[in-house]
Amino acid sequence: MPLSLSEQAARRRTFAIISHPDAGKTTLTENLLLAGGAIRAAGEVAARGERRRTTSDWMKIERDRGISVSASVMTFEFGGNVYNLLDTPGHEDFSEDTYRTLTAADCAIMVLDAAKGIEPQTLKLFEVCRMRDIPIITFINKLDREALDPLELLDEVADKLQLDTAPLYWPAGSGNRFGGMVDLRTDEYLPYFKQAPGEAFTPGSTDRTSLAAVREKLDPGALTELEEGSELAREALPKMDRQAFLEGHLTPVVFGTALRHFGVGELLATLEEFAPAPRPQKVHRKDVAGELNRDDEGVAGFVFKIQANMDPNHRDRIAFLRLCSGEFRRGMRLKTIAGKQVNVHNPLMFLAQDREIAETAYAGDVIGVPNHGQLRVGDSLSESGDVRFAGIPNFAPEILRRARAKDPMKAKHLRKALEGLAEEGVTQLFKPSIGSDMIVGAVGALQIDVMAERMVTEYGLDVVFEPAPYNVARWISSDDEAKIVAFLDKNKSASGTDLDGAPVYLAKNSWDVSYAAEKNPDIRFTATKERSA
Ligand code: G4P
Repeated sequence: MPLSLSEQAARRRTFAIISHPDAGKTTLTENLLLAGGAIRAAGEVAARGERRRTTSDWMKIERDRGISVSASVMTFEFGGNVYNLLDTPGHEDFSEDTYRTLTAADCAIMVLDAAKGIEPQTLKLFEVCRMRDIPIITFINKLDREALDPLELLDEVADKLQLDTAPLYWPAGSGNRFGGMVDLRTDEYLPYFKQAPGEAFTPGSTDRTSLAAVREKLDPGALTELEEGSELAREALPKMDRQAFLEGHLTPVVFGTALRHFGVGELLATLEEFAPAPRPQKVHRKDVAGELNRDDEGVAGFVFKIQANMDPNHRDRIAFLRLCSGEFRRGMRLKTIAGKQVNVHNPLMFLAQDREIAETAYAGDVIGVPNHGQLRVGDSLSESGDVRFAGIPNFAPEILRRARAKDPMKAKHLRKALEGLAEEGVTQLFKPSIGSDMIVGAVGALQIDVMAERMVTEYGLDVVFEPAPYNVARWISSDDEAKIVAFLDKNKSASGTDLDGAPVYLAKNSWDVSYAAEKNPDIRFTATKERSA
């Protein structure tokens, strides 16, 4: 019997992986897909090549720098559930995309390098998860290398992230002494056999035995660490609590080594056991606040990412639409609250190794909607056209540059191009109150490089990005509109508007911002803005 709308939605698990560059996100992604049966071991390399072709070949910069700028989504079925893994670019310069992708996830896996613990990028990404109360499963990776004491690692998580940790396993040593881990809930032992990277292995869970059966074989130091550490962990650390996890207060912890395929099956099992189905979303319907449930009739979703030129032969853009309710069928007509309509004839689904046309999709799924620029990041799309989701965050840029076309005759052309790329969310665009400058803002320097590259290849424009007279941008708001008007009037040379026309304070440095905030207590100076339409 075909599954009902509510059964289909209930089996979706949409998650992202967050980590500091080099912690092992790519390796883990590949191994999760292997363990989930989405790719075959022999196809590992081919899958990499394929992914590069479908999502990344469009940009020379990616090849030059050897990094993946474009985020995508990979779907696989495992144990009756449908998993949508939202891939987030790992490069620290390109984090804005990552932030936005997290708004479309119901759960995140946080990967930590066992030798390094919490790193700066982990912290930043975690903060976005916290803003959205996204529950987090922790994977402590690289146990095959010398690691920090696991108790110390968990203490660091608790301290720096204010997040309780509930280890589900406990490791026996690390590096050369690494012998496996004990399942703290069942007392079974999972022995570790050193495997060469890329060596054939059976995907899925590791064989289980008892500690008594293997203790002779373990390194004596590792055995002591295991026995003492696991006892302390049992006594002193919280037990897994589903509710606390779903509310974002507690994280279950799995240990392993993605490169050696150990612990990945257990991580997948943890995802299966605890990752939530699509959760209710806060929405406005005809300006009345309410909630949208995954099994509500009527398709609704929001655009969290736009990608151009995924296929070099077409100049289309793909809007990534995260569905939140209803049964989507190919050919459906969806509307924004502003009345824009999109006929979705060729929605794309992204499987691990390929893309295909989606015939149906449900809450939690992400479909690619080809369009010619009608759709923007933060747009709400629904069958009824009256659903508006809470916004997608914009983050205050950390780099501001004045954009100038080398050929002065092309100023108008330049404006159009900058607006186009800002609508896609590649960079932000600010228009100062005085003068005709166009100021481009980015969270990371790489965004500027990407923009310059696309200016040449797509718009045929040679653009110089010069230092701007400002270095910091803050959105300003107030309960008293008159205060904003007065502030803008007084600070004409240090203010402007963003792409949506929202007022922005453009300052030389953060000291200026603090000073202005002190002098104008009725005005809020914020580093994030939520856009929803
Ligand atoms: P990222 O996406 O988070 O940036 O990390 P990625 O998976 O690319 O891993 C970064 C490096 O860490 C890679 O080594 C990878 O092989 C290694 N690595 C990942 N998981 C483990 C693990 O469990 N144990 C050990 N020992 N290493 C791990 P690389 O030398 O930079 O690249 P490569 O030449 O191996 O591809």
